[in-house]
Amino acid sequence: MEKVTTLTLDKYKHKGRKITALTAYDAVFARLMDRAGVDVVLVGDSVGMTMLGRRDTLSVTLDEMIHHGRSVAAAVERALVIVDMPFMSFQVSAEKAVENAGRIIKETSAHAVKLEGGKSVAPAIRAIVEAGIPVMGHVGLRPQSIHRYGGFKIQGREPDSANLIMEEAKASEEAGAFSIVIEAVPVSLAKKITQAMKIPTIGIGAGMECDGQILVMHDVLGLSETVKPRFAKIYANVAETAQNAFKEYIDEVRGEKFPAMEHAYTKLKLVKKSG
Ligand code: KIV
Repeated sequence: MEKVTTLTLDKYKHKGRKITALTAYDAVFARLMDRAGVDVVLVGDSVGMTMLGRRDTLSVTLDEMIHHGRSVAAAVERALVIVDMPFMSFQVSAEKAVENAGRIIKETSAHAVKLEGGKSVAPAIRAIVEAGIPVMGHVGLRPQSIHRYGGFKIQGREPDSANLIMEEAKASEEAGAFSIVIEAVPVSLAKKITQAMKIPTIGIGAGMECDGQILVMHDVLGLSETVKPRFAKIYANVAETAQNAFKEYIDEVRGEKFPAMEHAYTKLKLVKKSG
C-alpha cells in the first residue's frame, strides 16, 4: 500500500486523476474512509459544528484540534492527514503560527496543516513551510470570517470579490502551500483558479472543475441535522439507521427480549473449598 503524500496529490493533478478528500474527527470514521481509499482526511475545524454542537467554527481551540487530530492520525494508514489551524492560532504573527503548527504536528502525528486566508496570512504560510510543515491553503468562503461576510455566503460572484479570491489563491501558492481548498464560489471562478495554479485545488461547493473534491463527513452520511448545504450529497442515511437501531434496543430491553441467553454467561466456575 502506497501512502499518500503531498507529492502524490501533485502527481494526481498532473495526471488528471481527481483527488478525493473527506473530513473526519475520530478514529472510527477515519479508519473507515481510509479503508475505502480516500486520498486525504481533513480534521476540519468544522468539528465545532459537526461534533461539538456549536453554531460556527470560531470558538474551536488548538487543544480541541489536537485532541481530534490525534485520534484520526492514529487510525489512518494510507491517506494524507491534514489538521485545520483554528481561528486566531495563525493570525497574530508568523512566529505564533509556526509554534502552533508545530504543536499540531508533534502532538497528533498528522502530516500537514490547513489555514484559511490569502495575502494577509502568506507570511505565516511561508514560515510554517520553512519549518518543514506542509500547508494547505483555503480561499473563497472562509468559515472563520463569517462575521465579515454576514453569514455562510457564497463568495466571488462580483468581479472585485472574484479577483480578490484569485489573488488570495496565488498568494498562498507563492508562499509555498502544496494545495488549496476553494469553498463556495461559482464554477467558472474555481475553474479559472485551478487553471492558474500549479498546485492542486480541492473544491467544496466550487463545482466540478477543481482537481479534487472534499465534503464534510456528516453531510455524506446524512448526519447533519441543521445545515444541509446545496452542494453536499447524502450517500447514506446513517442518522436514520442509527436512530432505528437505538429504538430497537430500547424496545427490546423494555420488552425483555434483550439480553437473550446467547448474550449471557452461563457456567459458574466451581471453586474447591480447602479442608
Ligand atoms: O473545516 C472544514 O471541515 C473545512 C472543509 C469544509 C474544507 O475546512
